[in-house]
Amino acid sequence: MNENIYLALDFPSWQETKLFLDTNHLHGVPVKVGMELFYREGPLIIEKLKQQNHAIFLDLKLHDIPTTVMRAMKNLASLGIDLVNVHALGGGEMIRYAKEGLVSGSNGKIPKLIAVTILTSMEQQVLNEQLRISGNVVENAVYFASVAQDNGADGVVCSVHEANPIKACCGDAFLTVTPGIRLTESDKNDQKRIATPDFARDNGSDFIVIGRSVTQAVNPYEAYQRVVEEWKHDIKG
Ligand code: C5P
Repeated sequence: MNENIYLALDFPSWQETKLFLDTNHLHGVPVKVGMELFYREGPLIIEKLKQQNHAIFLDLKLHDIPTTVMRAMKNLASLGIDLVNVHALGGGEMIRYAKEGLVSGSNGKIPKLIAVTILTSMEQQVLNEQLRISGNVVENAVYFASVAQDNGADGVVCSVHEANPIKACCGDAFLTVTPGIRLTESDKNDQKRIATPDFARDNGSDFIVIGRSVTQAVNPYEAYQRVVEEWKHDIKG
């Protein structure tokens, strides 16, 4: 187990999630709960996972008017999660309100507020031509990170390739959470800007999020151990 590695539980239901965790002896590892599972199971799934001692990153990527985000965050904070996120594209005021909601809703430890910079599935061409945001991905990720930091976020979701430039701009204490992680032998799937766990650690990631490289492996338990070993540099990928 490693507190810096969040396993993405991208399963359709609690039943499948539980079966996966039981079968592969992965109880107690930090997990990421995303929209698919949360929208099916609701807040109860957080309680169930907490009973099995999982640290929880609730990845719902909120993006709405500031007051709505604040009220939603107040509710989410009461669940006792560890990390939660918003889209930085929602703007500085929305991020500030999100933080206010987390502070007012928590019953102790305030969940860390993480802002998504540019989705790791997105390429520059889409950014420039469809969203009409000029510049390259790295400079936009750094810019959105600085907006998020100025408005109270504790860190960002970004690709490994943006983590060091973000640390250079926002300082080492500003957290970087990096999805798009693959074990060397795994497929790329729909991610565009990918990296291995040891590369992530060497390049400014504080936390990695890994899903399909583990969940779709022939032996998920072994794949997870390999991620931990690579992260710790016990072996090279
Ligand atoms: O299976 P894979 O390792 O690609 O899973 C990555 C996980 O990280 C998914 O649950 C996805 O929703 C999430 N994520 C991402 N890019 C972001 C934010 C979250 O891939 N910018």
